[in-house]
Amino acid sequence: MLDELQSLRTHALEQLERVEDENALEQWRIAFLGRKGALAALMEKLGTLPKEERPAAGKLANEVKAALETAFEARVNALKQRALIASLTSAPLDVTLPGRPVKRGRLHPANANLREIYRIWRDMGFQIFRSREVESDETNFQLLNIPPHHPARDAWSTFYIAGTDQRVLLRTHTSPGQIRAMRELGANGTQPLRVILPGMCYRFEQVSARYEIQFNQVEGLAIGRNITFADLKGTLIEFARRAFGERPVRFYADHFPFTEPSAQMDVQCIICDGKGCAMCKYTGFLEILGAGMVHPVVLKNGGYDPDKWSGFAFGLGPERIAILRYGIEDIRYFWGNDLRFLEQF
Ligand code: PHE
Repeated sequence: MLDELQSLRTHALEQLERVEDENALEQWRIAFLGRKGALAALMEKLGTLPKEERPAAGKLANEVKAALETAFEARVNALKQRALIASLTSAPLDVTLPGRPVKRGRLHPANANLREIYRIWRDMGFQIFRSREVESDETNFQLLNIPPHHPARDAWSTFYIAGTDQRVLLRTHTSPGQIRAMRELGANGTQPLRVILPGMCYRFEQVSARYEIQFNQVEGLAIGRNITFADLKGTLIEFARRAFGERPVRFYADHFPFTEPSAQMDVQCIICDGKGCAMCKYTGFLEILGAGMVHPVVLKNGGYDPDKWSGFAFGLGPERIAILRYGIEDIRYFWGNDLRFLEQF
């Protein structure tokens, strides 16, 4: 038995020396180390040996097994190394070749457009105030003059946070930020304000080419001693001029519970220049924002005395503006993550 093991070792190692490729290597492994290989067969015979011969034979069998396994690993590595050297020398590296171009990232069109809007408002003296996306019902509605069960709530289909009894929600507009900005920056209603509040809003809508369940808004808020509707109008007209160039705008009466009076501003359709097309539903104009004079109740909720202070607010839809500027026909492209769309910007 001992002799058989010794000669198996010699024979197997000799064979291994002659193995030149992966295929032969695998065949060698099966023949000698496989479950039905030569070594396994000898190991099986161990049980039939007389008791006193078993320990020595067992020990040698294990040694042979270890030796074959080590030699096998070494051969695997040697063959790999040889293949590598062969590939390097047969096709020499040309270190003077230019590298593969690395794809450059870029801003998402929604973000690029947002930054453009920030820049315009910054130039007009408005500073950015960041407000939360997860809001209380109180701040999103009640402090904005929309009590529970008020029919105006229908205008803002709401996602509520589970398990909060509808007290916590995803903000349906950036207007709750008005309350937070007034309370945090107003110093108990003693300081004037001029801020924009950008960010994501969420509404429980049927998604379509025109509606998304998430979208950005940019809220604006100015509070001061003698702010009038004329200031609001002049500011918005100037914004439109900077964003769209010399292009007609028009104001409509509108209604929001947190502004009084309220208005909507339209810009002449950029696609058809006012002639009428599918984008503007053949009206020649597109709505880009809602606005108004801050309601006295809202001023009070923000800590200001409405007899001494007044202000205006607006809420614009940056994606709607981007749609206008670039002629994008479907709002779902914005969050669809389709590179064919994103790479055009
Ligand atoms: N929050 C309103 C909306 O989402 C827009 C708005 C903002 C209107 C500020 C007036 C003043 O529809």
